[in-house]
Amino acid sequence: MGNDLLTIRDLSVTFRTPAGEVTPVPGVSLRVGAGERVALVGESGCGKSITALSVTALPPTDRALRRGEIRFRGRDLFDRAALAETRRHGIAYVFQDPMASLNPVIRVRDQIAEALPRMERAARRARILALLDDVGLPDPARAADSFPCELSGGQCQRVMLAMALAAEPALLIADEPTTALDVTTQRRILGVMDGLVRKHGMALLLITHNLGIVANYMERLYVMYAGRIVESGPVRDVLAAPAHPYTQGLLAAVPSLRLDKPRLRDIPGTVPPPDRFPPGCAFAPRCPRAVHACAEAVPELREHGARAVRCPLA
Ligand SMILES: Nc1ncnc2c1ncn2[C@@H]1O[C@H](COP(=O)(O)OP(=O)(O)OP(=O)(O)O)[C@@H](O)[C@H]1O
Ligand SMILES: [Mg+2]
Repeated sequence: MGNDLLTIRDLSVTFRTPAGEVTPVPGVSLRVGAGERVALVGESGCGKSITALSVTALPPTDRALRRGEIRFRGRDLFDRAALAETRRHGIAYVFQDPMASLNPVIRVRDQIAEALPRMERAARRARILALLDDVGLPDPARAADSFPCELSGGQCQRVMLAMALAAEPALLIADEPTTALDVTTQRRILGVMDGLVRKHGMALLLITHNLGIVANYMERLYVMYAGRIVESGPVRDVLAAPAHPYTQGLLAAVPSLRLDKPRLRDIPGTVPPPDRFPPGCAFAPRCPRAVHACAEAVPELREHGARAVRCPLA
């Protein structure tokens, strides 16, 4: 596609461990268009964070063996110069735990300043306050002069967002950015993030467990299982008619507040650890529709228009 910002093709990520090599991500392909809002979902341990971190080789993937192709604005991110440039200006991240990413003993203003280009003192102060205002902090001046430990979890998450925006990235990668917050704060911060992404024409790759968030805020969806994409397509189409048995299972497990709805159906079993991926379709051992052939070879990803599914039975 012409307007692709990020393109990942057949990315595999292999770690060397004392017990030998493990490949939690054996083959991921995905793309994010300019200004597009894309979700990546899947159960815990599916390889979502490893995929996201691999894009700019953030730890621990800096020590991993990455194979395949990662391009940002057409430039090869395995190239050091392109990677350095992309880290500075192209892609910014927001993570789940702001306390772990913020330095507790450095004032908020100084942490944001690090992400800003060189500029005159007064201009820098104004820019910092504007950023803190943008992310919805009620008293930007006070927040700027605070240490992170003086702010609440939600406020810290807004500071993280301001830091990410300081570099004016074309793509924001948010890895479960609100999971640690209460539901009301979650919704507020997502609203702020959504507004900012639209306002600045930024693309967003959001990793989340929450399909409600996906339905409300995102345009396109990738469903990941055992380090591969098993289904993708426009959010509305996929959620209205999931094609892969795994996606169907994830949707059936979404809690409903309606008492007349049938009880939740969890997907039986768990995601296999990377050193025990089965030879064929990794979901086959848990799949209610699996047949003999499923265990023999990894199914191809088949495309139908804007949708794709990795299941011969779909
Ligand atoms: N440094 C590492 N060395 C070896 N294996 C690792 C390393 N980091 C992660 N893994 C493995 O990679 C797999 C995928 O992990 P990842 O963190 O990407 O999952 P996830 O989909 O983000 O899960 P969650 O929803 O819980 O965040 C896991 O099985 C994990 O054990
Ligand atoms: Mg993760």
